[in-house]
Amino acid sequence: MRVLIIGARGQLGTDLVRELAGWDVSATTSAQLDVCDFGGTRRLLLDLRPELVINTSAYHRVDDCEHEAERAFLVNAHAVRNLAMVCAELDAVLTHFSTDYVFGGERDLPYTESDLPGPLSVYGNSKLSGEHMVRVCCPRHFIVRTCGLYGVAGASGKGGNFVETMLRLARDGKPIRVVDDQVLTPTYTLDLAKKIKELVETDAFGLYHLTSNSSCSWFEFAAKVFELTGVRADLAPTTSAAFAARAKRPAYSVLDNTRMRALGFQDMRPWQEALAAYLQEKGHMRLAA
Ligand SMILES: NC(=O)c1ccc[n+]([C@@H]2O[C@H](COP(=O)([O-])OP(=O)(O)OC[C@H]3O[C@@H](n4cnc5c(N)ncnc54)[C@H](OP(=O)(O)O)[C@@H]3O)[C@@H](O)[C@H]2O)c1
Repeated sequence: MRVLIIGARGQLGTDLVRELAGWDVSATTSAQLDVCDFGGTRRLLLDLRPELVINTSAYHRVDDCEHEAERAFLVNAHAVRNLAMVCAELDAVLTHFSTDYVFGGERDLPYTESDLPGPLSVYGNSKLSGEHMVRVCCPRHFIVRTCGLYGVAGASGKGGNFVETMLRLARDGKPIRVVDDQVLTPTYTLDLAKKIKELVETDAFGLYHLTSNSSCSWFEFAAKVFELTGVRADLAPTTSAAFAARAKRPAYSVLDNTRMRALGFQDMRPWQEALAAYLQEKGHMRLAA
């Protein structure tokens, strides 16, 4: 299968390139293909004629999106519409990623694909718009909502990932305050990339929630990083109100992987196991005392 992976330098993109290594893959960074260049994107796709396009690109600095709504909607919605239209023109399948932040979080039961979204932030709204664009413009699509990504490459769009940030702050001897009132499922991009490989080999198009198994708060996630690495840290819980981030985030955004299970796919491993594998891969487990 001829595949184009957009955002190849990102954390999910890096693992997708790795997992699909045996396939006929082209992979682009933002310097090679800027999805906001609608004409350039169309020309490159017409030239490559991929059968499958996997778009990992996004503007996802959640707090910055609040005052950069135009950029958020340009990258996360308008560019996605352009991509979806070109994919439809080529009869290519489009796999696109969305987020748990499309939900409002005013409950404590995992969200299924049939639950109604209600984003709280500009980022969440822009990603939900992107979903609609894909649905309307490209009939053969997979929309994959995922959550709390971390991968060996680190989020290029965010300058690292949560795990690495925690370890850096601990090494710098900084006090670390992490919210304990936002519950999610941290997800290792390598595990997600493996699942995407399974999914795109089917023609069971539509919307999917794909995350690691089980859930925790951001504080519990940070505590596990320090427990597994043996790194000493001045870690304490805080609240979203005290943290006062610019963008509102859902208090609960656990995604039930209902549709994936219905396909007969296995659940991903629990987030704790995936985190241990990531730390091993990065060489952080050796830090353990
Ligand atoms: N990170 C999370 O916690 C999280 C949670 C839920 C959902 N998601 C979604 O999952 C997807 C992958 O996230 P990720 O964590 O792997 O992100 P990432 O590491 O920041 O990678 C995103 C990639 O997008 C590329 N990109 C940004 N703007 C672009 C543009 N205008 N044209 C072309 N490429 C562009 C960047 O390319 P360059 O590096 O070459 O500039 C970057 O490599 C995104 O759709 C995101 O919204 C992420």
